[in-house]
Amino acid sequence: MTDLDAVLGNAGPTGLKERIAAELAAVRERSLAYTDADDDMLVRQHSPLMSPLVWDLAHVGNYEELWVLREVGGIEPLRPEIDHLYDAFRYPRKDRPALPLLGPAEARKYISGVRGRVLDVLDQVDLTDPDPLRSGGYVFGLVLQHEHQHDETMLATLQLSRRPGLVRDGELPPGRPAAEPEVHIPAGVFTMGTDTLAWAYDNERPAHRLYLPGYWIDRHPVTNGAYLRFVEDGGYRDPRWWLPQGWEWAERNGVEAPLFWTRDGDTWWRVRFGREEPVPPDEPVQHVSWYEADAYARWAGKRLPTEAEWEKACGGRTYPWGEADPGHLGRWANLGHRAARPAPAGAFPDGASPYGVEQLIGDVWEWTDSWFQPYPGYRCFPYEEYSKVFFGETYRVLRGGSWATHSSAVRTTFRNWDYPIRRQIFAGFRCARSEE
Ligand SMILES: [Fe+2]
Repeated sequence: MTDLDAVLGNAGPTGLKERIAAELAAVRERSLAYTDADDDMLVRQHSPLMSPLVWDLAHVGNYEELWVLREVGGIEPLRPEIDHLYDAFRYPRKDRPALPLLGPAEARKYISGVRGRVLDVLDQVDLTDPDPLRSGGYVFGLVLQHEHQHDETMLATLQLSRRPGLVRDGELPPGRPAAEPEVHIPAGVFTMGTDTLAWAYDNERPAHRLYLPGYWIDRHPVTNGAYLRFVEDGGYRDPRWWLPQGWEWAERNGVEAPLFWTRDGDTWWRVRFGREEPVPPDEPVQHVSWYEADAYARWAGKRLPTEAEWEKACGGRTYPWGEADPGHLGRWANLGHRAARPAPAGAFPDGASPYGVEQLIGDVWEWTDSWFQPYPGYRCFPYEEYSKVFFGETYRVLRGGSWATHSSAVRTTFRNWDYPIRRQIFAGFRCARSEE
């Protein structure tokens, strides 16, 4: 099956256009909900790690203008004078509040003006055109996923703001304990990456065959309760468990528990979107850096999985449970901000991979042992700043998406990456170990 047949499905180009229009409307509703706050909240910088929310809002519109209106639609720039302000490579996040950014009202007006024209382009474009930006609606997949990624970034900013009442919560299914906490994955060849998923990014391509020796991987992500045993065992005070750079980072920053955790007597509390609550023991731990995940794994007598091990454990499908889009049904995974937290371990037995590994998709991004590197035969598309400039031994790969990730912006081949010290993202991990 070609890329195009795969994405057009039975509905053909018209059905695909309808789906794209619906997804564009949904993601915009989401972005507007996260920025439905007073102007001070939107223009203020809540952390030097993050942009002001109003920057993210106008940036998603500017990105949509660059790629859909100018590249595909051939439309003249609407506001060429603001391009440089929203170029993510031009100014670091900490410098963005001092820029002459569009105010909240102006930003909303700008992005809605862009969106109107984007829908005109969608109406006219030929999705069977072999041009790689047009074929299968790639450019629309690009901007949709980009906006969802910024929505997740906005949630991280809202968490850092510690302001209550801005982020809705929801219900999640209960957890269940695992009879067998580890799953064995036998030695053998598997296919990593994809050639056929139409909206997959350049860094997920090409598909390639890879042999892995047998290994064990945790059935569930590491929970707060398990992580707490590491904390209580003095894990943060014992350099044996840490890489030297991680030890130095933790010492220098006084790190002794996950971000947003505090101890009061015998009880650990966390702040979640401005509210304090006891740390729930059966929920996957989040807001830990790669260094903390790596140290925990060593303390537990294990290691972090490589990204290849993580992907193989998914069983070679688009999602661990098969090809069915998780959509909004919520039967398979905790995605798309159905609640503002990870689901307890064991909450999604139907989402298990053929090997029986659970919660690979959703809940928390999972740190892996791998650096972000190109696959053999990598070809840059459509621009170097998406992936290529990040390859090397600077960023560690995260897999699987979090509770804040939308189903359109994650799949088993999807690769995320970040600095090993980052903790504001919704990241946790699971452990692995080699066969004896
Ligand atoms: Fe961006």
